[in-house]
Amino acid sequence: MGDITRIGVIGAGLMGSGIAEVAARAGRDVVVVEANAAAADAGRERIEKSLARGVEKGKLSAEDRDAALGRLTFTTDMEACSDRELVVEAIAENEALKLEVFGKLDRIVQSKDAILASNTSSLPIMRLAMATQRPEYVVGLHFFNPVPVQKLVELIPSLLTGEETAKRAEAFASEVLGKTVIKAPDRAGFVVNALLVPYLLSAIRMVEAGHATPEDIDNGMVLGCAHPMGPLRLTDLVGLDTTMAVAESMYAEYKEPLYAPPPLLRRMVEAGLYGKKSGRGFYDYTRGE
Ligand code: 3HC
Repeated sequence: MGDITRIGVIGAGLMGSGIAEVAARAGRDVVVVEANAAAADAGRERIEKSLARGVEKGKLSAEDRDAALGRLTFTTDMEACSDRELVVEAIAENEALKLEVFGKLDRIVQSKDAILASNTSSLPIMRLAMATQRPEYVVGLHFFNPVPVQKLVELIPSLLTGEETAKRAEAFASEVLGKTVIKAPDRAGFVVNALLVPYLLSAIRMVEAGHATPEDIDNGMVLGCAHPMGPLRLTDLVGLDTTMAVAESMYAEYKEPLYAPPPLLRRMVEAGLYGKKSGRGFYDYTRGE
C-alpha cells in the first residue's frame, strides 16, 4: 500500500534515527523531531554514518544516499508534524514523556486518518492511545535494533485500534519498509521482549553471582548456540537504561520475579553505564571495541 508518503519520527536516538533512515531510504519524506539541536545533530550524524556504511559496502549508491538524506528534515518543532500521515514516536522509554508527546501530536497532526504509532518496547499502547482524542488511530509499531538490519516489526493494536489503522500500519511496515510483521498482544513485553528480557536479565544475574564472566557467557551463546551476539553484548547494544525500563514495565504488569531488574543492572544504570551508546556497559567501547 503506497498511500503513506509523509512520515514524522519523534526522537532521533538509536531507534528513531534507524526508523527515519529506513523510511527515507524507502522514498518517504521524513520529518525528525528532537528535543534540542544537539540531539537532532547527533541523530543526523548517526544516519549519515549508517548510510555511508551502506555505500562502503556497496549496498547503496552515492546518489541514493544523497536522495535519502534529501528526504530527511530535522527540527526541534513538533508543529512540523502537522501534515504527516504517519508519526512514529521513538523517544526514551518514559511513560510520562510519551503521554505528553501523544497529547501534543493529537493537537498538532491535522489529517483525521493520520496514524500515531509508538515504538515503545513495553508500555501499553492503550494508555498512550488514551492520551489522545483518536485512540482508533493509535497503534504500536515496534522495531528492533539496528533498525536497518533487523527484519522484524511487531504490530500491536490496542483494544480500540481501528481495523483500517492496523492494516495500513502493517502494509507500511511490510510493503514500504520491507519488514516482516508479527502481530503482538497489547501486554508488556509483546512477543519478543517477553522472551528476550528474562534471558538478558538471567545473564546479568549470572555475572552478578560470579557464575561466569561476560566474555565467557557471550562466547557460550555465540559459539554454542549460534546467536549473532551474546546476551551481555546485546544488553550493551539495546542500552542498559532501556533494558531496565522494559524489565520494570514487565515486572509492573506481571509481578513475575524473573522480570525484576537485578541490582547490578540498576547500579550500572545509576552509574551512567548505559552500554555501547555511552561508551561503557559490560564492555568498554571507548577504545573502539
Ligand atoms: N546499520 C546498518 N547496517 C548495519 C548496522 C547498522 N547500525 N550494524 C550492522 N549492520 C550491517 C553490516 O553492514 C553488515 O552487513 P553485511 O553483512 O551485508 O556486510 C551486517 O549488518 C553485519 O554487521 P557487522 O559485520 O558489522 O557485525 P556483526 O556481524 O557482528 O553484526 C549485528 C552486528 C547486526 C548487530 C548482529 O550482531 C546482530 O544481529 N545482533 C543481534 C541484534 C539483536 O538481537 N537486536 C534486537 C535487540 S532487541 C530490540 O531491539 C528490542 C528492544 O525493545 C529492546
